[in-house]
Amino acid sequence: MSNLTQEINRRRTFAIISHPDAGKTTLTEKFLLYGGAINLAGSVKGKATARHAVSDWMEIEKERGISVTSSVLQFEYDGYCINILDTPGHQDFSEDTYRTLMAADSAVMVIDGSKGVEAQTRKLFKVCVMRKIPIFTFINKMDRDANDTFDLLDEIEKELGIATCPKNWPIGSGKGFKGIYDRDKSCVIIYSDTEKGTREGETLEIPMEDEERLLEYIGQEALDKLKEEIELLDGASAEFDLEEVRRGDLTPVFFGSALTNFGVEIFLQHFLQMTTTPLPRKSDVGVVEPVENNFSAFVFKIQANMNKAHRDRIAFMRICSGKFEASMEVKHVQGGKIMRLSQPQQIMASERKILDEAYAGDIIGVFDPGVFSIGDTLCMPKEEFAYEGIPTFAPEHFARVRQVDTMKRKQFVKGITQIAQEGAIQIFQEYNTGMEEIIVGVVGVLQFDVLKYRLNNEYNVEIRLEPLPYEYIRWIENKDEFDLDKLTGTSDMKKVKDMKGNPLLLFVNEWSVGMTIDRNKGLILTEFGRN
Ligand code: G4P
Repeated sequence: MSNLTQEINRRRTFAIISHPDAGKTTLTEKFLLYGGAINLAGSVKGKATARHAVSDWMEIEKERGISVTSSVLQFEYDGYCINILDTPGHQDFSEDTYRTLMAADSAVMVIDGSKGVEAQTRKLFKVCVMRKIPIFTFINKMDRDANDTFDLLDEIEKELGIATCPKNWPIGSGKGFKGIYDRDKSCVIIYSDTEKGTREGETLEIPMEDEERLLEYIGQEALDKLKEEIELLDGASAEFDLEEVRRGDLTPVFFGSALTNFGVEIFLQHFLQMTTTPLPRKSDVGVVEPVENNFSAFVFKIQANMNKAHRDRIAFMRICSGKFEASMEVKHVQGGKIMRLSQPQQIMASERKILDEAYAGDIIGVFDPGVFSIGDTLCMPKEEFAYEGIPTFAPEHFARVRQVDTMKRKQFVKGITQIAQEGAIQIFQEYNTGMEEIIVGVVGVLQFDVLKYRLNNEYNVEIRLEPLPYEYIRWIENKDEFDLDKLTGTSDMKKVKDMKGNPLLLFVNEWSVGMTIDRNKGLILTEFGRN
């Protein structure tokens, strides 16, 4: 095997999706601990910085430190080179959170065992389904009282529409948490609190045949219950099929406690074996294989103004094929220019470093003088192709934008258009009027503050935002078959168009979406727009 193939095949690039507080940060920390990337868990990001005030974007940038400036954490474990993509959560949930999933080859879904499937997980899960990437489930916080295990699995299946296959099974929860049963090995791994997870766990494994020791460690009641549950489980759960996992139709489920570092390494090991090497990607000249082709990449995220003094932007790109070397020339397909990527960098656990080389599967950040857009392709100078664009995700919050000083119209239009091009916000116009009325849509409410702040700071324009009641936006898939003037919906439906003139519909609730589809035979509405 060539060095290139070896390097690419040992890469695993994934995102962790979860609802805030389910334990994403804690789990990431423990992964890094096993990878030897940090010595003591607790150093990825302080909790205090995670809970920032929403008021000042620049402050937020500063405070968020590594959690945002690092869009990816790379570390080594057991011969694998692992890239974890950060999906910003909390108030900074935005389109970027969704876009990050476009760069991942699989996703780890962290669920709080006492809460089950929560709103943000549901949203992110939809994007994984759209991409058909494998999803691995870690049910966390088993050291706290958790919901019934069968109910949890049932909820995942019903709410998310994916079959589940538990690879291990919890024995009790909360104060009665005794450990997990490994279904492949048919043994029990005894729970131990590793000094709040600050050191690697020792694993005491007891085979199911060794009843005497099991009784000693978990007791009669827990053992009887476990046996009963295993029997039920063997009869009821889906067969494990790696192909189904890879297609995203079946999720392997693991249990543990990230905080006390229990079940984490077991999960990591199984996950690394089951997840894929960097996946091929579709382009306008067909599928591009990671190992067979020259360097190529696409931009999935642009981070603007991380440093006010420099007004710089960093474009994050996912390498899809071949090897990147810092000195080489590449073609920016959409810009039609041959260039050297400036200051290519990678984030290693807790530090940024300028890199010399990177491989398919890796994420690199490069200095962007304002030439890149989300979805752009980079390839070798002699080649020319473009990767499939990144979809536009449905905003859920809308506001009408009013300028405070109407004399600054030009500045305003320039600013808001540029910010929209970066992909931080989406802008719409009333269907039948000109640029006068601008409606802005965002995925996360923090983006409203970011917009206000940036227009003021960078373009010297003050705006007022008037919230609108809409929460659902739909693209019209078959827009050529419909005369928008004649389209009838519920009375609270609003017709708008995007900057390219595509018609869209805004709704206050899901019921109105359904009614509108009913009233207009053949109308196809979608949640994801195409660039
Ligand atoms: P997030 O990134 O998904 O938002 O979650 P994060 O890891 O920050 O965890 C949220 C809270 O849940 C933290 O507590 C964390 O310590 C706790 N937690 C994470 N995993 C487990 C677990 O397996 N068991 C238990 N019992 N708790 C867990 P916090 O009180 O908000 O913060 P801290 O002050 O304890 O750090």
